[in-house]
Amino acid sequence: MAKFARLAIFCVAFVVSSTSCDVTSGTGTCDCSEAIKRLQKSLDNLNDILSQSTVVITRNQAATSCPNEIKTYQKAHYKVIEEDGARWRLFWWYKANTTWPALVSDVLQDKYGDCDASAPYCFGRLPEALMENQAEMLGIDSADNAYRWKFNSNNRVSHAVWEAFHDHKDAQVKNVDVWNPKVIRGTAPKAAQDSFHYRMEHGVRSLQIDDDNCDCLTSLSMGHGMCLEGFSTQYGPENVYGVDLLYDTYCNTPKPSNGLFLYFRDDDDCMNVTCPANKVCVDGIYSYVCVDA
Ligand SMILES: *[C@@H]1O[C@H](CO)[C@@H](O)[C@H](O)[C@H]1NC(C)=O
Ligand SMILES: *[C@@H]1O[C@H](CO)[C@@H](O)[C@H](O)[C@H]1NC(C)=O
Repeated sequence: MAKFARLAIFCVAFVVSSTSCDVTSGTGTCDCSEAIKRLQKSLDNLNDILSQSTVVITRNQAATSCPNEIKTYQKAHYKVIEEDGARWRLFWWYKANTTWPALVSDVLQDKYGDCDASAPYCFGRLPEALMENQAEMLGIDSADNAYRWKFNSNNRVSHAVWEAFHDHKDAQVKNVDVWNPKVIRGTAPKAAQDSFHYRMEHGVRSLQIDDDNCDCLTSLSMGHGMCLEGFSTQYGPENVYGVDLLYDTYCNTPKPSNGLFLYFRDDDDCMNVTCPANKVCVDGIYSYVCVDA
């Protein structure tokens, strides 16, 4: 931190000292274009340094002690489970037979931590602190299918799903890279999952992982049914919202009688930690804090 502050001060000093005009010999006029170019370059460098130091500050806060981190973390006291040899924390859920909330227009509308843990649904996103190539997601539906996905920034389907769940970005990738889940319980998807879209359909920003961007043989499907750029009533009725089961027998569309729970992998960072006397360890995301007991 201190190193970056010194570097930034040095850089400002450099910028200021290098802005004097170069007097070109001959005409005697003041040519500032070189100085302006240098200034621009220094500002660009300064910007880089500042953005790097912001990252470092964020990381340091996460790794040592930051009241906001604790607050965010404790606010999201969502359920933790053990499954397939790992620890998982809930972040998105829709209990079967919940009436679809008429006001909801986005299946990823909630920032991580903003839901009431006892609510019948939570359209939450992944925590911002999660890192793509270390992140994993677990889905368990009301028919007890359980799928596990490992994010991979080099897989275009995985990356688009990550950007939707983590960065709240719309997406449409079709027949690109296969991103199949590991099946923990239940039945594997019938077709290679190489397509994904997240976009508005019938008033609700919905998403779907499948083989062709159209309501059959999906693995993850929530919100309203979608087929290519629209919806096809061949597969289900209009204006029905909910989730599809992870294992889609053929062409099922999302409906409210299905339930779905999504978790992210959340290792216990307190596992090997011994806090000083009278402090207790609070687990974060790739971090922990020792707080007063
Ligand atoms: C949802 O409701 C239907 C109809 O009452 C019932 O058959 C079904 O078992 C319920 N689903 C779950 C998962 O509770
Ligand atoms: C705790 O220690 C064990 C054994 O060294 C190691 O395998 C594990 O990854 C550690 N866990 C954490 C969260 O640091």
